[in-house]
Amino acid sequence: MAEARTIGSLPVANVQALAATCNGLDEQVPERYLRTEASSDEIIAGDDSGSAIPIIDLDKLLDPQSLEAECVKLGSACQNWGIFQLVNHGVPDEVTRNLMSDIAEFFKLPLEAKKECSQQPGSLEGYGQAFVVSEDQKLDWADMLYLQVQPSASRDFRFWPTHPASFRHSVNVYSSEAAKLTCRLLEFMAKGVGVEPATLRGVFEGQGQPQGMRVNYYPPCQDADRVLGLSPHTDPGGLTLLLQMNNDVQGLQVKKDGKWFAVVALDDAIIVNVGDVLEILSNGKFRSVEHRAVIHPNKERISVAMFHYPCQNLMLGPLPEFVKGDKMRYRSTSYQDFFMQYLAAKLDGRDHLERLMLE
Ligand code: OGA
Ligand code: NI
Repeated sequence: MAEARTIGSLPVANVQALAATCNGLDEQVPERYLRTEASSDEIIAGDDSGSAIPIIDLDKLLDPQSLEAECVKLGSACQNWGIFQLVNHGVPDEVTRNLMSDIAEFFKLPLEAKKECSQQPGSLEGYGQAFVVSEDQKLDWADMLYLQVQPSASRDFRFWPTHPASFRHSVNVYSSEAAKLTCRLLEFMAKGVGVEPATLRGVFEGQGQPQGMRVNYYPPCQDADRVLGLSPHTDPGGLTLLLQMNNDVQGLQVKKDGKWFAVVALDDAIIVNVGDVLEILSNGKFRSVEHRAVIHPNKERISVAMFHYPCQNLMLGPLPEFVKGDKMRYRSTSYQDFFMQYLAAKLDGRDHLERLMLE
């Protein structure tokens, strides 16, 4: 994605280092990280009965006996929530374990060593932050490492950690597992709402299936209730697969019907969410879920979001198969423009998406 490198975030402090100072010496958290909305919104705990996000079982989707019913469940999860937990997902345990342990090792390196992967001025990729566009904007309590993973020819190894030595291999192996799984899910999602299974997959296949990986590092914060790890946003692409380091530290929250719900990830589940491109392609049948991440007072949290993008030259608009019998609900736009605008602004919940809605 050569074009994407022409924009980037303003540089900000390293939060892992800042947290070490604040938490160790009882220093105040800088004003720029304190935000009122962090503590004022009502949160529905993930363990409240009936409020948990849907759980989808890939084994059931692959079994002809249960396929029909599980597909309908998947379709309605994507329609009502835009997010679900996928169990029996088929990605070998070893693959996710190796990836997470290599990532954890990277964040344990001294700051100077991690900085070898730092973003360059105007780059999207690398170690740093994203979506900081003004000097007075509130900041997220996190550091991130963003890498363009597919197509493989687009990899820019200046930003890829060389320590641990197995990092590249681990990302590579997980990348193909994630891409395979995404294609499967796109078929079942289409089928779940009565659309020809190949319809969605076709938009994401070919041209090396663009994939980007964002690793989020959320340090603990003594003022956890007054900071946010990741501002409310939707993901711009198709499907996002999210892994988190260990399930005793939760942080993801999703918005539904105006309320925030905490996501309690099951052991061994992959969290899957719908992004903007799928909402638009499906004419609003699937929902690009607004989500954010909160911070733990004394434990770090690491998550890995694998984003699946359509090909760059896509004219993004509702697919005829999804419009049938309904009116067109979104304006069409060049995907490239849409993506560039997303990257050039601060995170804004669903606003950028709603601007494309007709009426
Ligand atoms: C993301 C994201 C959530 C999390 O990286 O886009 O939504 O829990 N991450 O880290
Ligand atoms: Ni996200």
